[in-house]
Amino acid sequence: MSIIEKALDKNRSAPLRPPPAGAQSGHPGQETAGTASPVSAQHDHPLAARIDFARLRRQGLIVPGDQRSSLAEEIRMMKRPLLNNAFGHHSEMRISRGRLIMLTSALPREGKTFLATNLALSMAMEIDRTVLLVDADVAHPTIPRVLGFEAERGLMDVLTDPSLTIPDVLLRTNIENLSVLPAGRPHGRSTEVLASDGMRALLDELHDRYQDRIILFDSPPLLATSEPGVLAAGMGQVVMVVDAERTPATSVENAMGQLAGCEVVLTALNRAPAASGLGYGGGYYHERPYGGDEQ
Ligand SMILES: Nc1ncnc2c1ncn2[C@@H]1O[C@H](COP(=O)(O)OP(=O)(O)OP(=O)(O)O)[C@@H](O)[C@H]1O
Ligand SMILES: [Mg+2]
Repeated sequence: MSIIEKALDKNRSAPLRPPPAGAQSGHPGQETAGTASPVSAQHDHPLAARIDFARLRRQGLIVPGDQRSSLAEEIRMMKRPLLNNAFGHHSEMRISRGRLIMLTSALPREGKTFLATNLALSMAMEIDRTVLLVDADVAHPTIPRVLGFEAERGLMDVLTDPSLTIPDVLLRTNIENLSVLPAGRPHGRSTEVLASDGMRALLDELHDRYQDRIILFDSPPLLATSEPGVLAAGMGQVVMVVDAERTPATSVENAMGQLAGCEVVLTALNRAPAASGLGYGGGYYHERPYGGDEQ
């Protein structure tokens, strides 16, 4: 076990942090940190969003509190390098802005949302960190539907309405340490906004607000438009999801071309045959610095 892994394990067993200064109970737009178990079914103030565990189960997603499944174990292995990159205790091994992580893929339906949601659930359950799941697939948002709640306002509203700030639209959930930033109301040029200066400033704000927070972005496919590639350049880490059964190699290569400006790109092979023994979802995961000189 590496020094960083040991440090990470130590973090996991550490007690939960107290609420961040200024957090207000009962304000639907504010994040609050919890005090007891990682899953809190009851709060003495209204929840902003209630994740439907039965719905998670039906979709084959990780369910907090359920017995450890092979999926949970595979996701745990998938998140380890991401967390090492973000929080490695040796600062020289940490990746700049490594807490900003985007899941993307060449084509639609490769499993971006499935993996982003599972990672968020897993990270929120197993470590002493807060997790913010951002639905940046602004033209076709699905995170609230997957988690089983409805959300109106979100990212798009903050980016297009100067009177709104992130805390106005951020949703706490009934999973301790997990908040969701919904996509918000779409408009005709939703995807273009992802490449705007406003989005860049918002990334800075999300990154700088809490030092222990992982921010996971679900995003549109890379080959449909250029904006997800621009968004990716603002991230510390990008996870390229590849559907093992379906994605042509040329599509993966073209999509990787869109990520040339990204320092760290990891790949996740989704839906790989279980017999391959290669990891995730019957699939596989590894780290690979694309677009740069390999050491
Ligand atoms: N490894 C997996 N095991 C089981 N179901 C999966 C897996 N990966 C994806 N799915 C399912 O496949 C469907 C498509 O996945 P998902 O919505 O995550 O893809 P996507 O890349 O986010 O698509 P889009 O580009 O349209 O947003 C979903 O119903 C999802 O639950
Ligand atoms: Mg999706």
